[in-house]
Amino acid sequence: MAFAVAIDGPAAAGKGTIGRAIANRFGFEHLDTGLLYRAVAKLALASAANCSEEMARAIAARLNPKDIEKDGLRTTEVSRESSRIAAMPSVRAALLEFQRNFAQRKGGAVLDGRDIATVIVPNADVKLFVTATEGVRACRRQIELTNLGMSVSYDDVLDDLRRRDERDTKRGLAALRRADDSLLIDTSELTIQQAVSMANAAVNQQLGNRVRFSGRV
Ligand code: CDP
Repeated sequence: MAFAVAIDGPAAAGKGTIGRAIANRFGFEHLDTGLLYRAVAKLALASAANCSEEMARAIAARLNPKDIEKDGLRTTEVSRESSRIAAMPSVRAALLEFQRNFAQRKGGAVLDGRDIATVIVPNADVKLFVTATEGVRACRRQIELTNLGMSVSYDDVLDDLRRRDERDTKRGLAALRRADDSLLIDTSELTIQQAVSMANAAVNQQLGNRVRFSGRV
């Protein structure tokens, strides 16, 4: 069974938390596609500040799945660079096939990012757009970074989210936007459990539709 769940939304909206929860609940594989851009950014920063598109493309083309498991992908510096690099068309092109192949996994796949429902898997079985107010997202991200041992002020976190959201929504290619047929989950006033329940219900419904229409999953 190839069953794909696409999750998009702005920075620190809770996409990863919901994506992992869906994957656990339904036995799907989960890919946080932001880690691909972060891994390219980290490798690029190791070679040069403000690297060229050609250099970033070459790094993206050689990216190894192990690179997204490395430490140091969540720093403010890497976040900023990932958003700069993510606006480069040839970098996005170099990472496309890996993501599309991942979405075809037999046991089902959940991908989260910015362009999953709009570009990577436009025919995904379930499309979610996860968002929250800026203040809520900045608070959550500050707690997450503190738990990872990084000390960052609330204002710096908020500034980082704003800059990235601005760049991610305004770039010419694969800009962050809500797919028309996606389910909006605003997590501003929801507990994690409530948000996960909404997402799981949407997946359950689609799985049920598949059984009804085809007689099998
Ligand atoms: O975790 P957070 O939501 O803060 O960011 P992320 O998902 O790790 O993504 C880091 C950056 O990668 C974003 O700011 C985007 O610029 C870029 N990105 C993208 O362009 N397309 C994706 N599918 C995923 C991430």
